[in-house]
Order: sequence, then structure tokens, then C-alpha cells
Amino acid sequence: MVKLKSEAEIDAMRYPNRVVGEVLEYIKDYIKDGVTTYDLDRIIEEFFEKKHVIPAFKGYQGYPAASCISPNEVVVHGIPSKKIVLKNGDIVSIDVGTIYNGWYGDGARTYAVGQIDEKKQKLIDVTRDSFFAGIGQFRTGKKLGDISYAIQTLVESNGFSVIRDYVGHGIGQALHEDPQVPNFGKPSRGIPLMEGLVLAIEPMVSMGDWKVRVLEDGWGVVTIDGLPSAHYENTVVLHKGEVEILTIPEGINA
Ligand code: MF3
Ligand code: CO
Repeated sequence: MVKLKSEAEIDAMRYPNRVVGEVLEYIKDYIKDGVTTYDLDRIIEEFFEKKHVIPAFKGYQGYPAASCISPNEVVVHGIPSKKIVLKNGDIVSIDVGTIYNGWYGDGARTYAVGQIDEKKQKLIDVTRDSFFAGIGQFRTGKKLGDISYAIQTLVESNGFSVIRDYVGHGIGQALHEDPQVPNFGKPSRGIPLMEGLVLAIEPMVSMGDWKVRVLEDGWGVVTIDGLPSAHYENTVVLHKGEVEILTIPEGINA
């Protein structure tokens, strides 16, 4: 069941989503050669404490950390670890969720560690661009499949592939609500897009094949071919005739 949100409910979702956008900006300064993904997770959790939000991922189906930190071939759900040291030339995806007054925020970015090669930079840029291509379709009269198709088309026309096994989602008083939002699909299919619909749209893009497997820790998702992948996610709402990106509040960069 899709739960459309009232203006008051959208207002309630602003703060947890603003903090997501803020922490994804704040963490940039700490991403450098030699930092562990554990260190980054600590910094994120302390930021959340200061902002009085609950880390939504911690304890979710037993997930052990405040953030998912996924370097290189790790697509999503990487568990932060003292043993994972980032190095110059890596890319790293950071995914965070928050709760405030029972309302959820969710967002992710992929960052460069030091100097990265051109192809990895293109992967990051295309992943981000595919999100914006997707929300270009988020308006009344369109269908969910129009968003999915726009994302897939942008990604594949740049020679990359979209992960099939993980998808975006509705969000509100739960981290995952209906509908599922695949990053691939056919135009004019699926539910009609309506005012009050709040979605976490999150393209996950691989440089090579889209096939993935789950690591022995039960969480980390890696590409089978070992090639790098990127992730870009925002929580967005259609209302007052426009798309508002709740995780990119005014004054914060995407
Ligand atoms: N943003 C991801 C999602 O929407 C991460 C959640 S996985 C968790 O599914 F377990 F860490 F919460
Ligand atoms: Co999400």
C-alpha cells in the first residue's frame, strides 16, 4: 500500500532528511588516504547524536552500524570496519538513514579518495546524473516506470550497468515503504505518480556487469566481476506541482 503524505507529514520529514544531506556533506572532509570505514562511521554517528536524530540503519534487521560504507566493488551495505583502510584512488559510497519523531530520512553519495582515474570519476558522475534523469520524470501524469526507464537509459547509454537486485523505495514512518523503485524498467508502466508520494530514489551503478553476490558477513554486496560501483540516493517528494529533494536542503551541495 502506497501512503501519500500530507503537507504536515512532508514538513515532519524535512528535519531527518536535512540531517542526512548535512552529514553527507560534512563527511567529505574526512575521506582521505588512511582513514578506516570504522572511523567514518564513528564521525557520522557522533554527528547524528549532536543533531538529535536516531541512526535508522543501526539495529535494522540486525545491521550493526550507523552507516553503510561501501568501497570500490562493494555496491551497498558495506559494514564499517577497522580493517578497511581507504587509499588514494579508491571510490567509496556512504549510505545513511535517520529517524526524528518517528519519520525517516535516507540518502547516499559516492566519493573519491584522493586522486581517482577518469573512468571512476565518470562512474560517479553518471550515477548522480541518472538520479536527476529519474526525477526529471517525477510528475503527475507520469508512471513509476518512467523514472526507472530514465535512470536505466542514462546509465546504459554511458556504457555502465544498473544493479538489478536492489531497488529504491517509498519512505515515511518506515525506512522501506511501498512502492519499490527499480533503477531499470519500461516507460508508462507501474503506479501513477501523485502529489504526496515520497520516494528514496537510489541508482546503484556498476562499471561492468550488474551481477552481485552477498559477502560472508551477510551484508556487503559486491559485484561478481570485482569492478567498481557507485551509489547516489536522495529522498524526494512530489508536491505543489514540483519535485523537492528533501536530502538536499538549501545551502547544501548535492
Ligand atoms: N539505503 C539503504 C536502503 O534503502 C540501506 C538500508 S540497509 C540497512 O535499503 F540495513 F543498513 F539499513
Ligand atoms: Co534507501
